[in-house]
Amino acid sequence: MNVFEAIMQRRSHRGEYVDRPIDDTDLNRIIEAARWTPSPFNVQPWELLIIKESKGKDVLAIMTEKAIVQQFKDSQFLEDNSNWMSTDEREWKERGDGVLLTDHVTLPNMLQNAPKKLTGRFLKALLKSAKSLTILGHLGAGKMPANEIATQVREAPLLILITMNRDRKPPGEGANRWMWLSIGMLIQNILLAATSLGIGVQFVSAPLESETDRDNIRKHFNVPDNNEVMTLLRLGYMDTEKGDSVRLEKTEFVHYEEIS
Ligand SMILES: Cc1cc2nc3c(=O)[nH]c(=O)nc-3n(C[C@H](O)[C@H](O)[C@H](O)COP(=O)(O)O)c2cc1C
Repeated sequence: MNVFEAIMQRRSHRGEYVDRPIDDTDLNRIIEAARWTPSPFNVQPWELLIIKESKGKDVLAIMTEKAIVQQFKDSQFLEDNSNWMSTDEREWKERGDGVLLTDHVTLPNMLQNAPKKLTGRFLKALLKSAKSLTILGHLGAGKMPANEIATQVREAPLLILITMNRDRKPPGEGANRWMWLSIGMLIQNILLAATSLGIGVQFVSAPLESETDRDNIRKHFNVPDNNEVMTLLRLGYMDTEKGDSVRLEKTEFVHYEEIS
């Protein structure tokens, strides 16, 4: 697979994975791709924690579940979420940005079986009113998606926790920004290498949202204080077709200089 194919094939994989550990040869190739990431002054500020055992996965699964249940009770979070959430596929494709609600949450049976138009209207009304969602959150509506995603974390063939070593900071005022940029590049190298090996990747951000949770993760995995927890990735072999995604048109984000 060449680099353009890998870029176009890559998707955030939110479904199940094949029940098979990641081969060491494949893992080493992914690590090698990460190793060759560019960084300012070649400081290479990243550290990767490879999590294969159930003990570590369990800790992160429990934290994921708790964080999502909490998010469902947080009206600001829900309101911000709803701005980037489409309730039907056509609307999502027309927008060309954001995510599709049903890619993130499995709807209760009652809604799955209802006519699409009705479900769409109901969900849209629900999303428009973050307050009503918070009430639902307090009544336990977050438990199902939280449990679903936590189970995926627990059953993931492999998790990679990426941290940034602040001691490896480059000179200059912009040090932090440059380090963050290179961590982004490292993640993209991992995503593309994984795609080319038939391995899916999903970001699992929920347990990393709050500083308290990030601190707890550091303590749990003995990550030194000077290392900032950046990202958690869930990886596994896929046996499904690549998922759908959308993007803005080029004309919406590419600008050419205007000579006056
Ligand atoms: C920093 C970052 C955090 C993300 N967090 C999550 C996440 O917690 N859960 C998830 O399913 N996808 C997550 N995503 C994936 C985005 O939702 C996804 O890239 C976007 O919707 C486009 O879809 P695609 O990657 O399939 O093209 C994250 C992506 C980035 C770059």
